[in-house]
Amino acid sequence: MCGIVGYLGPLNPKDVILQGLKKLEYRGYDSAGVAILHHGKAKQVRAPGKLSALEDKLKNETFDGHLGIGHTRWATHGAPTETNAHPHQVDGISLVHNGIIENYQDIRETLIKSGAQILSDTDSELVAHLIAREVKKTKNLYLAVEHILPELRGAFSIVAIWNEAPDEMVAFKDGPPLVVGIGEKQAFVASDVQALLNYTKKFIYLEDREIVSIKGDKIEIFTAQGAPIIKKVTEINWNPEMVEKQGFAHFMLKEIYEQPRSVAAALEPHTNAQTHEVHLKTEGLGSAEFSDLLKKTKRFCIVACGTSFYAAQVAKYLIETLAQVPVDIDVASEFRYRSPVLEKDTLFMTISQSGETADTLAALRLAKEKGLQILSLCNVKNSTIDREAHIKLYMLSGPEIGVASTKAFTSTLTVLSCLSLQWAKSKGTLLKADEKEMVQALLAAPAQLEVVLAYDKYFKETAQKLKNYRGFLYMGRGLSYPIAMEGALKMKELAYLHAEGYAAGEMKHGPLALIDNRMAIVMLCPKDQWYEKTFSNLEEAKARGGEVLALGTGEDENLKRKSHFYLALPKAHWIVNPLLSTIPLQLMAYHLAFQLGYDVDQPRNLAKSVTVE
Ligand code: M6R
Repeated sequence: MCGIVGYLGPLNPKDVILQGLKKLEYRGYDSAGVAILHHGKAKQVRAPGKLSALEDKLKNETFDGHLGIGHTRWATHGAPTETNAHPHQVDGISLVHNGIIENYQDIRETLIKSGAQILSDTDSELVAHLIAREVKKTKNLYLAVEHILPELRGAFSIVAIWNEAPDEMVAFKDGPPLVVGIGEKQAFVASDVQALLNYTKKFIYLEDREIVSIKGDKIEIFTAQGAPIIKKVTEINWNPEMVEKQGFAHFMLKEIYEQPRSVAAALEPHTNAQTHEVHLKTEGLGSAEFSDLLKKTKRFCIVACGTSFYAAQVAKYLIETLAQVPVDIDVASEFRYRSPVLEKDTLFMTISQSGETADTLAALRLAKEKGLQILSLCNVKNSTIDREAHIKLYMLSGPEIGVASTKAFTSTLTVLSCLSLQWAKSKGTLLKADEKEMVQALLAAPAQLEVVLAYDKYFKETAQKLKNYRGFLYMGRGLSYPIAMEGALKMKELAYLHAEGYAAGEMKHGPLALIDNRMAIVMLCPKDQWYEKTFSNLEEAKARGGEVLALGTGEDENLKRKSHFYLALPKAHWIVNPLLSTIPLQLMAYHLAFQLGYDVDQPRNLAKSVTVE
């Protein structure tokens, strides 16, 4: 997630901005930059990679101005290069941006036709061009920003400064968060309060479509149409627990927003970003030995609970499709109390975020007693399951505090995708070209997750409209079926509303009877090999008066026409679709639960780690 810091005041802007950017590092980024006034012009310094690279470049730089902006960028449009890093500068305008400009292609074409020199691949630079064009006419930065807003579509926050206005900073938010920090004869803008806590405890939280003009020590806020607004100043009284939430209202929300970073972390050990090859790294067995084990394995058995079980269901699809090995999956509480037939050449896997789930641990012990090799996938290193397994994989999500599992699920899907590819590769059922294509798609997933997160305002709006439904049927086919189950679980455990996940093809075998206009059908219908079949199921539901919330790919007009609510996901490889579809389901459950007044981080009757049966 990109991070923004802007500063106007008597302190050294370089120090304030760098310190703020450091506090925003947790959001994840792959390049950084600043633009700070010096001799009446904003001097731009940018660097790909970590903040330390930017710090190195700034070491000997001095600035005599008191205005500057800084940015940490998580690449979406264009690679994480210096040219694509923010701030972008055009004719005296410097700009940082977080989010997505949806109509950037149209804007780009128009700008090129009008003779603009576009240097980067980003959608952000185009906004700088528009403001630069407008400020020539208005000679006023605030008006220039206000005038170009109707030209932009998407979910985005921006902060702009202008060489001709050395004591002015203008910011706008419509989507990604932006706060204004108020100090003694100084003002700040940042993506979250965490960035500014060393300087102020007084904040104004910008709402969507509000513009702030900071001029000297005057802070004024307006609607996008220019009407002044009086905003409440909030004084933050932080306790350590809140600080751990890093500015988010809940751990769960923070963890949802961490997913671009946690998915990237989960991929990192197992993929080569240069060659686009998979090389699964396990602990407890070397790569070559593990590959031999996969080749010999005749059957795979995965046991888990809750969200981890739904991830196992995704793995069944992936491994059977790619590696053509039969996969049995079971919920641990059932597995341990039947008489499972476990043959010698079966590889047994447990999946557990906590590594402490009692039923999963008991299942592991049972399989171990039968002499099977145990592979584990845990988030918590040195947990009991991790310690007792023979071969270990890790989610690498970082601590997950919210009881409802979010980032651990997407990290699990990521590692299981790598395992499936490795298995297929070891068995010789994977073409080199397919390996490259799928690894490349997975490596692009963090940026695509970022795009989905930028649409949170739409998920929030939709959640508001879901309050009055009596229940929810989540439906999908193929890889979307387990995601439907996971979406339903999130809705149940957070919003305490009845929700069921179903294979869409099963509707006419019973659930169709439930359908009326008080039952919302959440249909997962991405453009994949199951699309047409799922679409027919949607029509069946619709024909019976069902109100459909469809999750589709891009501007799918047919799907939109058939749906009551339509939410678009970026076009992605089928192996990445489960990751992307998960985010709106998590966010809608979160927002709905919050609106209903429930404890989002600690839902009633539930615990993070279920160490009893
Ligand atoms: O720690 P584990 O992955 O073993 O936990 C399994 C389930 O208890 C867990 O996924 C639970 O279903 C969550 N509340 C789901 O959000």
